[in-house]
Formats: sequence, structure tokens, C-alpha cells
Amino acid sequence: MARILGIGIATLDIINSVEGYPAEDSEVRATHQRICRGGNATNTLVVLSQLGHRCAWAGVLADEPNARPILDDLARYSIDIQACRHLPHGRMPTSYILLNQRTGSRSIVHYRDLPEYRFADFCNIGLSGIDWLHFEGRNIDDTCRMLRHAHSHAPGITRSIEIEKPRPGIEQLFCHADLLLLSCHYAQSMGFTQPHELLQHVRRQAPQADLICAWGDTGAYGLTRTGDSLHSPAYPPPLLIDTLGAGDTFNAGIIHARLSGQHWAEALRFGCGIAGKKCGIMGLDRVASPFSNNPSPP
Ligand code: FRU
Repeated sequence: MARILGIGIATLDIINSVEGYPAEDSEVRATHQRICRGGNATNTLVVLSQLGHRCAWAGVLADEPNARPILDDLARYSIDIQACRHLPHGRMPTSYILLNQRTGSRSIVHYRDLPEYRFADFCNIGLSGIDWLHFEGRNIDDTCRMLRHAHSHAPGITRSIEIEKPRPGIEQLFCHADLLLLSCHYAQSMGFTQPHELLQHVRRQAPQADLICAWGDTGAYGLTRTGDSLHSPAYPPPLLIDTLGAGDTFNAGIIHARLSGQHWAEALRFGCGIAGKKCGIMGLDRVASPFSNNPSPP
């Protein structure tokens, strides 16, 4: 069991299942509605907790009713929230999500009006005993400072960064990571049509880091700091049910596999396996159960 601190967001997800993606200016009825906690960093922590790790979250909590289901879910997974910043005002970020039952695709409208977690908050965290820090690639200036601070105060801690969306200046984070978890969406926004092109490009900006890029149904690709190229196929479920949080689950799988001493090739397979399993079930609640003792793909 390792100790993992995730820095990023928690959201309230309002998920409406629909029979097909609606046309603009149409009215459709949802077949099912689910309201639950979401957010990339906390999703990853929930899966890591299921995989047997001790997890803590550093993020911002507003004192308002929507924080309740978020806190309840984090408590259910024993995720420590001591490092959080509590605000007496504001609203928890909210995502309005359409889940297309035909394809499993998820379309998200995200509303956010809450300050970001600050470098000053991060400095109050005692880092001793933590094995892994996982950051969302957001709030670039403060995150850069957090990464530098962690490296100078606790150089033994592994630092991973999720690069999911193109954000101004996000590349400044690259040189501070031990592991970069890049998305296909980021690659495409940079004009790359092949994962290897992205990995070679990022290699120049982050020669010290291991690089992983998930690429939808073709699986995931990697380039280690020692120059090994990797690929794992995807493990799609028999029926696509829900792809929301699949990337966050993949990231948890990679972190777990590395903390368990697996080689990169195995870690990639494990990440793809657990992400595939996630796509075949609704939500994140039972994502990791059969994987806990057997970290190999189905
Ligand atoms: C899924 C997710 C949702 C959340 C949104 C935030 O990856 O974390 O749970 O609403 O993305 O961007």
C-alpha cells in the first residue's frame, strides 16, 4: 500500500443518459439520471483507493450543499481531505453530462466559478511519508511552483502530471514531471495525428520524464526516459456502457502498476485493461475490485 496525494478538482456530475445524442434545439427525455462526485484528480484517487492505496486529495471545497455528496463519496473511499482549502462561499464546479447509450460517449458542459488550489495551500502540506504526487495539468503558475517545491523538499516522491487539455503555458510543467500522462485530445489539439509524433515532440521538452499517451480504441503508447517505445492494445468491454472517467481510471491503473513494481509494458497493459473494464460498467464504484489481487488485463 502506497500513500498518494492527488492535486486537482472534485465536481458534481449530473449525468443524463440519452438514447442518442440530441439534435440542436430538440427536446429529448433522459432514460436515467445519476448525480455523483466527479473530477479528474478525485476520480483517479477513488480508483487508486479501490486498488488498495492510502489516498489524500488537495483541492478546493466550497461550503455549500453540493459539497455534501462529494464529501460523502470521498469518505466512502477513505480519501483524506485535510490538505483541502475550505471556502465559506462559492459553488462546487458542476458538470452537465450527456451519456449516449448507443456509443457510451460522454459530452460535458462544465461550469466553474471557484478559485483554484494555491501554491500557498500546498506549502502547508507535510510531504513526508508520501510516495506519489499526481497533479492535474491546470492552474499552471501555481502548479509549477508546487512541483518545484515538492522536488526540493521531498525529492524522493514521484510526480506525475495529467496533460488532458491544451492550456496556455501547460508545457512549462513538462520539465518538472517524472511521468507525463498525455491525452489524445491534447495531441490532436497540437496538430499531431499519430501518438509517436506527440511523444517525440514532448521528449524534447521533457527528456527526464517517462511519457504515456492513451489513444482511444487503439490503446496506449509510451516512450520511457531510457528510449523504450511501448504499445498496449485497448481492451474494450463487450458492451460500451459509460466512458466517463475512463482516462482518469487509466491514469490510476498506470500509477498503481508502477507503485507495484511493474515494468512499463505491464503497466501500460494494466492501465488499458482497467480503463476498458471501466467503459463496460456504470460509474467508478466497482472498477477495480477484481484487479486488486491480479494486476493483469482481462
Ligand atoms: C471525467 C471528469 C468528470 C468531470 C469532468 C471535469 O474525466 O473528471 O467527472 O465532470 O471530467 O473536467
